[in-house]
Amino acid sequence: MLDELNLIYKQALGSLQETSTREDLESWYRQTLGRKGQVTQMTRQVGQLKPEERPMFGQRVNEIKQELQLAYDAQLDKIRTAEIESKISSDEWDVTLPGRRRWRGRLHPATQTLREIYRIWGDMGFQIYRSRDVETDEYNFELLNIPKDHPARDMWDTFHTTTPGVILRTHTSPGQIHAMREYYPEPIRVILPGMCYRYEQITARSEIQFNQVEGLAVGENISMADLKGTLSDFAKRMFGQERKIRFRANYFPFTEPSAELDVECILCGGEGCQVCKHTGWLEILGCGMVHPTVLRNGGYDPAKYSGFAFGMGPERIAMLKYGIEDIRAFWGNDLRFLEQF
Ligand code: FA5
Repeated sequence: MLDELNLIYKQALGSLQETSTREDLESWYRQTLGRKGQVTQMTRQVGQLKPEERPMFGQRVNEIKQELQLAYDAQLDKIRTAEIESKISSDEWDVTLPGRRRWRGRLHPATQTLREIYRIWGDMGFQIYRSRDVETDEYNFELLNIPKDHPARDMWDTFHTTTPGVILRTHTSPGQIHAMREYYPEPIRVILPGMCYRYEQITARSEIQFNQVEGLAVGENISMADLKGTLSDFAKRMFGQERKIRFRANYFPFTEPSAELDVECILCGGEGCQVCKHTGWLEILGCGMVHPTVLRNGGYDPAKYSGFAFGMGPERIAMLKYGIEDIRAFWGNDLRFLEQF
C-alpha cells in the first residue's frame, strides 16, 4: 500500500505540472486532495493495515498531503501570473477607467479639537506641559486641597490600582503641582493636556476616559480680571467673536473663588434647544483663582504670588461644535463616525 501511495504521489505531481488553467487545476485538486480524491481515499484504507504498519503509513500520507498542497499553491500562483500577463498583452485593460482612490487616514476628532485648543493657547503665550496619567492620591487630591475623607472627593469617582495610593488621574489638575514645583520661582503660563479616567456610569455625556486641557498662570499681581479676560478671549477665538459668554459661580476645592464658563448655545444661538436643555447656554470649562494652599504646596508664597487655573473637556467641546449627540462615538472606533471629520 505504501508503494501504491508513492506512485499516486508521483503521478499527481506529474499531472499537476500539465495543468494550465484554473479549471484544470480545480479538477486536479478534486481528483487528488478533494473529499473523494485518491490521497484522501488512501487515508481511509489505513484500517486494512497491520497495527504496526499504521503509524509509518499515516505519517507518509500526511507528508504527501502537505507537499501536494504546497505544489498546488505554487501552481495556482503560476497560473494567476500567466492570466495577468495574457490580459496585459491582449490589451484588455481600459486605461481610461478612473483609478481606485487611495484610502487616506485622518486625525481623530478629539485630536483635531485638542490641536485647535493648543494653537489658540499657543498664540496667547501658553506652552504645553505634559504630566503623567498614573498619579498618586497625594497629587490628585491632597496637594489640591482635598484631604482624605473630604466630601469633595465624591466629585471624582476614582480608578484605584492594586498599589495603595496609586490611582489613574481623575483630572489634569495634579499637573498644576508638578508644573509649579518644576518652575518655581519663575512665572508660569502652561496648558496641561491629557487623558483622565473616572469610574463613572457611561452615558451620552460621560465616558470613563476622556481628555482634559488644564491651564495654569502663576505670577505676581494676577487677578480675577486676568482670568476673565483671558478665558473670554479663548472662548471667542474658539467659538467665534460674536458669541456671548458668561461666568457662573461654582465650587472647586483647589480654586477660590471658582466659576464655570458658559458660551451661548452654538446650535440654537441662545433661543433654547435640547442640547442646551432649553437654557440657551453651554458649559465649557471650570476655572478659578488658584487656592493659597495649592500655591503653597507648589512652592509659591501666596502673599507674593497669585494665579488662575482652568480645566476643559475637549470631547465635550467637539460635541458642541459639531453637534455630536453621544460621547461614546469618540472611542467606539466606528469608521462611519470618524470619517466625517
Ligand atoms: C475638573 O475636573 C476640574 N479639575 C477643572 C478645574 C481645573 C477647575 C482648574 C478649576 C481649576 P470637572 O469635573 O467639572 O472639573 O471636569 C472638567 C471638564 O471635564 C468638564 O467640564 C467636562 O468637559 C470634562 N469631563 C468631566 N467628566 C467627564 C466625563 N465623564 N466624560 C467626558 N468629559 C468629562
